[in-house]
Amino acid sequence: MDKIFVTYPFPEGWLSLLEGKVKIEIKSEDEFLSREELAEKLKDKDGAIVLLGDIIDKGVLEKARKLKVISNYAVGYDNIDIEEARKRGIIVTNTPDVLTNATAELTVSLIFAVIRRILESNEFLHQGNFTGWEPDLLLGYELKDSLVGILGAGRIGSVVAGKLYALGAKIVYYDASKNEDLEKETKAEKEGLKWILQNADIISIHLPLTQKTHHLIDEKELSMMKDNAFLINTGRGAIINEASLAETLRTGKLGGVALDVFENEPGINTHLLRMENVVLTPHIGSATYKARKAMAEIACRNLLAALKGEEPPNRVA
Ligand code: GLV
Ligand code: GLV
Repeated sequence: MDKIFVTYPFPEGWLSLLEGKVKIEIKSEDEFLSREELAEKLKDKDGAIVLLGDIIDKGVLEKARKLKVISNYAVGYDNIDIEEARKRGIIVTNTPDVLTNATAELTVSLIFAVIRRILESNEFLHQGNFTGWEPDLLLGYELKDSLVGILGAGRIGSVVAGKLYALGAKIVYYDASKNEDLEKETKAEKEGLKWILQNADIISIHLPLTQKTHHLIDEKELSMMKDNAFLINTGRGAIINEASLAETLRTGKLGGVALDVFENEPGINTHLLRMENVVLTPHIGSATYKARKAMAEIACRNLLAALKGEEPPNRVA
């Protein structure tokens, strides 16, 4: 029987597809594995289910002599050295589609939370500051008629665009390729990054993290944005230079930001933690019962197919 390692003690039943088919070793709840210890665990395994926080680099792959497949429990796979896996003939898979709606709904929630200052209002009330209705108390912005720039019109970006279009926003997008379906469904127009930075009221990031998108949004790009524009990121933290973002906000520029992902998770730039117009959530884009269970099922299917020598449903390398 093939031996596999799972780097997280998933809730009861989520990995039931594996029962009786593979010999499973699971990282226990209170165990912390360093990169070396993870490599040690993978040494005699045929497959692994890993999380987006597990860094599977060259050093880890070098030691995993028997490994045939890494089933990543995420749609993004920037945590894995894909080139090195390819070189070694190790199959890598991800869990797309089933988390698209959950992530898109969180994105829409974050947009409203930041433009209507919902958390700030909640805090205001809890602090006992509400002394009566006032015409200019906690004013915000409306989504309807706003120009929203979607950076990355893949699965998630497109669904976000569709939801925002239905709510009355105008859509522009930045992507390497033209997305005809998106243009038809949302009257979206493809624009350059610079144009979007200079004109959008709200910018939402849905690109994968690669060498090309690392710090795509840095000091210069932030300086091009409209003074009251909003920046939302539910993609990957390192697409934004977090220190530059904190500095830009400190100078009073930008209406606000909402971030679900961070450059050095679980660490967060401490300046961002203290700002009122910053809404932060701990990487919960896909955190619905439906999405996370479906991701587990897909991770199992990918793993089992690869171990059987079949083409897994969601192969990325
Ligand atoms: C979550 O961020 C994922 O990539 O699935
Ligand atoms: C990921 O699912 C994407 O393509 O947006």
